[in-house]
Amino acid sequence: MQTQKKIKDLRQILRTARSQGKSIALVPTMGNLHEGHLQLIRQARDRYDFIVCSIFVNPLQFGENEDLDAYPRTLEADRESLRSENCDCLFLPTIKEIYGNGLEQQTSIQVPGLTEKFCGNSRPGHFEGVATVVTKLFNIVQPDAAFFGLKDYQQFLVIRKLTKDLALDIAIHGIETHREKSGLAMSSRNNYLSQEQREQAAGLYRCLQSCAKKIEQGNIEFQQLEQAAKKELQKASLEPDYLQICDADTLQAASTETRHIAILGAVFIGKSRLIDNIRFQLS
Ligand code: PAF
Repeated sequence: MQTQKKIKDLRQILRTARSQGKSIALVPTMGNLHEGHLQLIRQARDRYDFIVCSIFVNPLQFGENEDLDAYPRTLEADRESLRSENCDCLFLPTIKEIYGNGLEQQTSIQVPGLTEKFCGNSRPGHFEGVATVVTKLFNIVQPDAAFFGLKDYQQFLVIRKLTKDLALDIAIHGIETHREKSGLAMSSRNNYLSQEQREQAAGLYRCLQSCAKKIEQGNIEFQQLEQAAKKELQKASLEPDYLQICDADTLQAASTETRHIAILGAVFIGKSRLIDNIRFQLS
């Protein structure tokens, strides 16, 4: 596996791959790779010829009081994992390489409609930062496809929308969340949790599942279900940030007409904030 730090060197390698008729897939990450990320690499590997994984802890998507400095950085272990998954190229740019004119001067991408609620409301500027770096990575790599985890479902929809709105010719693949045995969604931020908190944190998925089950059994009192679910979270020592039953395509509050449902939740536990979601189709 090659490692490239410079945009121009990466482009050179990609030109060669393309001239050999290879299809190219990009897996953007912020590193600290876990099994969830490796699933993205495997799915990309199965379908495309040349796989680029980027590791870039993007300062633009962290708020002022967020965990940018504390975000886990485990480059050597990440490299080893990527090698064993037969990733072709690691793109490892510096902040200067991506934001050469400084963060303040960076042209940015806004994705209206999907970014105002949920994580967008709790983390102002977050999705603008994500959309900007992802668009930039798309322009650098010009992949045929890109892979994202569905744990960050709102992020997935934002990226799918920006790809469509900007007429980018890139297939966006969303890959199902990888979970620990307890049901806890894999996330780099789980590293901040003690063993006891990890067990508590699994309560978020249990709560989403029980809420989904009630809807599938015919309960459509969505607001009552949301209130009950938030109480359930509090009982499990998880402080809800949001929990909402919504239309899985638009993220608008679900109505009795909605068939494709997503329940999105975020909770605080200790100093950490964890998110998860569940999606299903009603007949
Ligand atoms: O999901 C992530 O790890 C990040 O938000 C992404 C998509 C790599 C952009 O920095």
